[in-house]
Amino acid sequence: MLRYLLLITVAVASERCPYTFENQTYDRVAVLTIKGLPTNLVVNPNTRDLFFTLIDIDSLHNDDEQTKMDQYVLRNNMPIKIDNVNGQAAAVDVKNNKVYIASDDGLNVLNQTDRANFVSLKDEDIVLLFKPQHNDEIYAVLYPDNGVYTINLKKNEKRKVDDVPCAFMLAVDALDNVYYECNTKYVKVLLKDFHEPIEFVGIGRNAARAMAVDNNNRVILATNDGLYFLSPDNIVPKKLMNLDFVPSGIAFDEEDIYLATNSVIYKYSSDECDEQRIQ
Ligand SMILES: *[C@@H]1O[C@H](CO)[C@@H](O)[C@H](O)[C@H]1NC(C)=O
Ligand SMILES: *[C@@H]1O[C@H](CO)[C@@H](O)[C@H](O)[C@H]1NC(C)=O
Repeated sequence: MLRYLLLITVAVASERCPYTFENQTYDRVAVLTIKGLPTNLVVNPNTRDLFFTLIDIDSLHNDDEQTKMDQYVLRNNMPIKIDNVNGQAAAVDVKNNKVYIASDDGLNVLNQTDRANFVSLKDEDIVLLFKPQHNDEIYAVLYPDNGVYTINLKKNEKRKVDDVPCAFMLAVDALDNVYYECNTKYVKVLLKDFHEPIEFVGIGRNAARAMAVDNNNRVILATNDGLYFLSPDNIVPKKLMNLDFVPSGIAFDEEDIYLATNSVIYKYSSDECDEQRIQ
């Protein structure tokens, strides 16, 4: 009888937490459903705000017009549009509690009333941003070549990262290794002080979708079939999670994982799942 009860308890618990990331089971909720494709997810851990860019899918599939997108922040489950700028990506300077918004006309910082204020790179069309948390630099990817630049925010200096030819996804770890995807061909890492990027193996062409740094300072790649840890020491990525949808964005907030796909943002949480830890 006791064994029977235990079996039922385990079955109910695993039904409640059916997703596994690494050794931990997770539950998930849709924190937002919205028309469009949410991308470029990033969390401000100081406020729990989730920033994302919403792409208009009709304009994405129409070659004659420029892709339309808007910058949003999800706060207390409410999406708020940052509407005084053509926002294309966001990045958070956690230490200084600053949120940067990339636009088609330069770099902006968000003020207390969620309005973008210009700071740098006038006339530059910035399509991607990444803020490492251990220094004063921010990485910006500029249209049309998708070249990668570091901006020193204190000195207001711009420097091209010459050894990275282009980037459509970008993440930088605490050791200044630069992980990127270029032209849907490959995912590579440029190790600090090296000049020749190294290609990760085993990831399908055109399968990479987004990158983010997790709570343990690891770069996690979201692909068409799951989440992988990109280690600077191993050209074979380690698969941490299977996905049954095509992700368009990923962000970490301590133990929580945000994953976006067409018209929805999911939050994966393990708060109710701790007893399910697989040894
Ligand atoms: C997950 O399990 C593997 C194998 O049992 C172990 O080597 C690893 O340290 C665990 N990772 C975490 C984060 O607990
Ligand atoms: C925020 O920025 C907007 C636009 O520049 C400005 O009008 C507003 O006064 C600013 N608010 C605060 C609190 O600084």
